Amino acid sequence: MAKAKSVYSCTECGGQSPKWQGQCPHCDAWNTLVESVVEGGKAAGANRFASLGGTGEVVSLGEVEAKDFPRLPTLIGEFDRVLGGGIVEGGVVLIGGDPGIGKSTLLLQAAARLSEQVRVLYVTGEESAQQVALRARRLEVNASKIQLLPEIELEKVQATIAALKPGVAVIDSIQTLYSSALTSAPGSVAQVRECAAQLTRVAKQSGTAIVFVGHVTKEGALAGPRVLEHMVDTVLYFEGDTHTSFRLIRAFKNRFGAVNEMGVFAMTEKGLREVTNPSALFLSQHRSDVAGSCVMVTQEGTRPLLVELQALVDEAHGAQPRRLTVGLEQNRLAMLLAVLHRHAGIALFDQDVFVNAVGGVRIVEPGADLAVTLAIVSSLRNRALPAKHVVFGEVGLAGEVRPVQRGQERLREAAKLGFTHAIIPAANKPRHRIEGIEVVAVERLSEAVDYK
Ligand code: TYD
Ligand code: MG
Repeated sequence: MAKAKSVYSCTECGGQSPKWQGQCPHCDAWNTLVESVVEGGKAAGANRFASLGGTGEVVSLGEVEAKDFPRLPTLIGEFDRVLGGGIVEGGVVLIGGDPGIGKSTLLLQAAARLSEQVRVLYVTGEESAQQVALRARRLEVNASKIQLLPEIELEKVQATIAALKPGVAVIDSIQTLYSSALTSAPGSVAQVRECAAQLTRVAKQSGTAIVFVGHVTKEGALAGPRVLEHMVDTVLYFEGDTHTSFRLIRAFKNRFGAVNEMGVFAMTEKGLREVTNPSALFLSQHRSDVAGSCVMVTQEGTRPLLVELQALVDEAHGAQPRRLTVGLEQNRLAMLLAVLHRHAGIALFDQDVFVNAVGGVRIVEPGADLAVTLAIVSSLRNRALPAKHVVFGEVGLAGEVRPVQRGQERLREAAKLGFTHAIIPAANKPRHRIEGIEVVAVERLSEAVDYK
């Protein structure tokens, strides 16, 4: 087969050049030219997204969201939850995560269940057929109906999908695929983008739902950053500490369901097991109350979760005091320290401050602010917060404590888990008493800091 011609297009302005250059000749941006393939001569080459199948279909995606699409449940409850109820016909899902976190495991488990309902094609580019079979045996799933294709050439995968017409096709992983139309190596941005674009078109045309597995680079971005996220309908990320057995799957983008939805699993010797009641998972196990620890209630999607935040404040020795966070936003910490100083009179300019969310969970909502501040103050004063207290609330730059969403649900969850007091924003104070929990409503950060 003759090699198709390549063209280099700019990721910033879309301008094209016949050869690779460091700087885009159209918009002068640096390092933005990536290789793509010219299809069917000049006409198609003029539009680098021509291979996606025209703008008409893109428009109809808006309607897809509006009407209810038939869904294929994977019958793994936590997975279905993040998918928004199941895999959608013709939908394209991207599952990203660190190597070894459990992507192939989960997809094999899901594929086994799906193969009871529809034809499932599992394209494995990383492992041999034997390795997949061995894994299926270990997982003790009935994988006999799964159609396995050990292949890394895009054109062959496309032809197989066209011939087999599966309901669901799993591509493990998108980075191993390559199109013979491009000269660049498998795993390069150009290849990943081209393969994903071609397969997305196949999904939209044939109605086959496609699941891509994507590796995350060291910087935390999927190879071919952003490009893939734009193409697919649903982006899910695996999170969690590979040292513990817990794994979270979070929806970052979902055209067919809610984002911020979270699924919780535990990795066992028989694969990923669902954790249906994860709210107490992220509390550390120590018994006595220690300084620097504060339990918050965060709301992930539709579920409240109790997470322990820990802070350590220690005398700084360097020229610059250190501010480190694990599982929380670093810039937010700097802001909270400034608010603490200006509005509560607590100065930490000569102290190192470390903050950690227990259990490898990541918290992005500002509702963690109040708990972070109280943990810091507790560590600084070396005085534990009173036992059985939970905290939530956002802290504003003016030192006010702002309400969070779904305050009542958070309070109920805390009460269910045996907490007796909650320090919360005044605006979140429930009108009717919630059984088992005493509410301490605060309007300003200074009130919360002075609470004993
Ligand atoms: P895997 O699904 O291969 O990860 P990925 O596809 O995301 O790279 O998971 C591999 C890890 O999971 C490996 O370290 C072993 C562990 N594992 C179990 O603990 N139990 C199991 O049943 C399986 C299949 C894997
Ligand atoms: Mg894998």
